[in-house]
Amino acid sequence: MKFFIDSANIEHIKEIASWGILSGVTTNPSLVAKEGKDFKQVVQQICEIVDGSISAEVISTETESMIEEGKEISRWHKNVTVKLPTIPNGLSACRVLSNHNIKVNMTLCFSVNQALMCASAGASYVSPFVGRLDDINQNGIELIKEIAEVFHLHNVKTEILSASIRNPLHVTESAKAGAHIATIPYQVFKQMVQHPLTDKGLERFLADWNDAMLKKPSVVKV
Ligand code: G3P
Repeated sequence: MKFFIDSANIEHIKEIASWGILSGVTTNPSLVAKEGKDFKQVVQQICEIVDGSISAEVISTETESMIEEGKEISRWHKNVTVKLPTIPNGLSACRVLSNHNIKVNMTLCFSVNQALMCASAGASYVSPFVGRLDDINQNGIELIKEIAEVFHLHNVKTEILSASIRNPLHVTESAKAGAHIATIPYQVFKQMVQHPLTDKGLERFLADWNDAMLKKPSVVKV
C-alpha cells in the first residue's frame, strides 16, 4: 500500500517527504483554507516537493464549471490529480476530464455503489472516508474491504485511496482491507513511526557501545 500525506502544510509535507516514503499528496478545500495561502501556489509548491499524484479539489458543483476548473487545475503541473465530489455532476465531470486523460480522484465516497460509479466514470482514484463513517457508528474499514472485494471481482482498475484516516490502526486496517493507498495526516505519520521498544532498544545499543568503548576502545573502534 502506498502512502500519501493528507495536508496542505508545506513544512509538514517536506518533513514526511524527507523520510522517503511518500508517493503522493491529497489536499481538500478545508486543508488549503487552513493554510491561508494562494491555492495555485500551494499546489505548485507541493508538486516541487513530492514526485507523485497531487490531488487538488474543485470548489464548483455544476458540471460545466467543474470541468473548466478541473482543466485549469490540471494545467498547474503534470502531476496534478483533479479531485471531484461524488455527486451526479461530479460523475459527469469525471467522465469528461478522464476522456481528456486528466486523472481524477473522486472524493467523499461513502458506499460501494458510489465507488463503482466513480470507477465507471473513469476515475483513477476513489476516496472512501473511513473516519467519517466511524463517526456515525458505521465501520469505515468494512467499506474499504467491500470495495476492494468488488473491484477485484470485476477487475476494476480504479485505485482505492483510503481517506479520513484518524489513527495508526486505520492505516494498518486499510492495508489489510486491500486499499491501494492511504492518505494520512501529519500527526498520524508521527504516531506510526513511534514504538517504545524501538526507543528503548536504541538507547540500550548505544549504552552498550559506549560502555565497551570505555573498557576496550581499540576493540569497538569504527
Ligand atoms: O482525505 C480526506 C480528509 O482530509 C478528511 O479527513 O478527518 O476531516 O474526516 P477528516
